[in-house]
Parts: sequence; structure tokens; C-alpha cells
Amino acid sequence: MRRFSADYLKDTRRGMWNDRAALAPLALDSRTRILDVGCGTGELTRVLREESDAEVVAVDADPDLLRAADADGRALGDATRLPFCDDAFDLVVCQALLINLPDPRAAIEEFARVSSDVVACVEPDNAEVVVESSVAAEAPLAKRARDTYIAGVETDVTLGSSAAALFREAGLADVESRRYEHERTVEPPYDAPALDAAKAKAAGTRIEEQAPTLRRGGLSRTDVDELKSEWKAMGRDVVEAMAAGEYERRAVVPFYVVAGRIDAGETERGDADRLADADDGSNEAA
Ligand SMILES: C[S@@+](CC[C@H](N)C(=O)[O-])C[C@H]1O[C@@H](n2cnc3c(N)ncnc32)[C@H](O)[C@@H]1O
Repeated sequence: MRRFSADYLKDTRRGMWNDRAALAPLALDSRTRILDVGCGTGELTRVLREESDAEVVAVDADPDLLRAADADGRALGDATRLPFCDDAFDLVVCQALLINLPDPRAAIEEFARVSSDVVACVEPDNAEVVVESSVAAEAPLAKRARDTYIAGVETDVTLGSSAAALFREAGLADVESRRYEHERTVEPPYDAPALDAAKAKAAGTRIEEQAPTLRRGGLSRTDVDELKSEWKAMGRDVVEAMAAGEYERRAVVPFYVVAGRIDAGETERGDADRLADADDGSNEAA
């Protein structure tokens, strides 16, 4: 399981839900019991609680992150084996979880088991990320590193744009997908996370952390070292431009909000199939 730090999650989610129009298909104001799966530090959980009078329960497989999530109930658990009975919630949702799972469809099917009404996800398509920077080398380097990372990573980090198809395959009905752009900007005056990010670039920290994935994506160790050295030089330019108050960066991360309804007909058919499949002793050859 890929691990995330609380600081990373808090930093990358800043300002993400200033505009909440894309969450409309979740009908948050009509919910009574919501489950946020893969809640991390509870960045989406907080939004769900602000937009709804429902009881909001948070689940994550990482106990340290889960502890930081402010929810009405918290449970340690795996997205593909949720510790809840069938139909326990009227909305089951996740944010940036499916892109980290080897079998996202199994998780969606599990969400459908514990939901009586709607299943939803908020997932990015990392292939569509756009970076603009006042340091000329930054955008092309970021794209090169990102494309290689996507080629080497073992889960589908571009899943957002195809999540609706997965929902349909999992048997959900009335599936709706909305594209939402999270814009992140760095400009003067710089805050502490922006200054830390610049220092990390100048140290090549991220490239080193991602080295195994970049190698799976086709780079030799020498290629990784070359990329790291270009990255560090770019980072030093960023630090210098910040010291002069001249650095500006804009990143747009597209997220897809996908929602689907539990298909009552499907559930009844499923029950009938299960009854037909049940071993009643009449089929000794099976
Ligand atoms: C990118 S973070 C997203 C956290 C939060 N939803 C957010 O948007 O800030 C992915 C989260 O999924 C959790 N996670 C990964 N695999 C999981 C699994 N199989 N079951 C439950 N949680 C899982 C991680 O611990 C992490 O907190």
C-alpha cells in the first residue's frame, strides 16, 4: 500500500473544495449516513460534514492518518472488505483512493454492497495535470517526470476520466461524471509549505523517492541521476526566484466526480442468482 504523510495530504488538498458545485450529484443535504473510504486525514470528510446533517463515518487502512480524521465514527479497514453490513449507508464515497488500489473495481463493488442508494468517487486523471511556472525548466521537467512515473506506477493514477465506465461495469445505474479542476498556485508572499516544496526540489527529494517507479517507467539508474540533477538545478532556480519574490507557479489537477445509483433491479436479480446458486443438496456433482 502506498503511504502518504499527513502534511502531504493537507498541503495538496488546500483550497480543493472552495467551490463545491461538482459535488451536487452526491445530494449531500438529503443524506442520513455517509461513509468516506480511504479518508486519510479527513480532507473530504470535513467537507461532507459541512455540507450534510448526516452521520459521517471515516475508514482508512492507515491508523496514523485515520486518527487525524474528524468524523462521527472511524474504522480501520480495507476498502475491498469493509467492516459494515449490507446497505449500512445511503452514500459511500472516496477521494483519491481508487487510483491507489490494484483492483479498483473490487472496491466499487464493495462500496455498492454497503450502500443503499449512491456510490461516488472523486478521482484525478494525473495524465491531464498541467503545470505552468515562471522558471522555464520546471513545466517540461515536471511533465517528463510525471509521464515516466505514470508509465512505471503499478496502479492506474489516470483512472479519474475512466471511473464512470468502471462504475457501470460494477452494475451501478444512472452514472454521472463531472470534471472538476483543482487549481493550485504559488505566488508571493510565499507560505511555509511553498518554501519547503522549493527546498525539496533543490534537494531532488521527490525524484529520489520515486526512483524505483521511474526505473519501472523505463529509466536506467543513470537516467534517474540525470533527471535528478536537472531537477535540483531547476529547484535552485526556484529558490533563487522566491528569494527575489519573482517565482510564480500554477498547477491544474483535474478531478472527476463520479456518482452512480444502486440498481434495485440488479440487486433483486443478484439475490435471485444467489438463491439459484445456493447449495441445497440437489446438485451432488458440483
Ligand atoms: C491519496 S490518499 C487520499 C486521502 C483522502 N481521501 C484525501 O483525499 O485527502 C489515499 C488514502 O487511501 C488509503 N488507502 C490506501 N489503500 C487502502 C485500502 N486498501 N483500504 C483503505 N484505505 C486505503 C491511504 O491510507 C490513504 O489515506
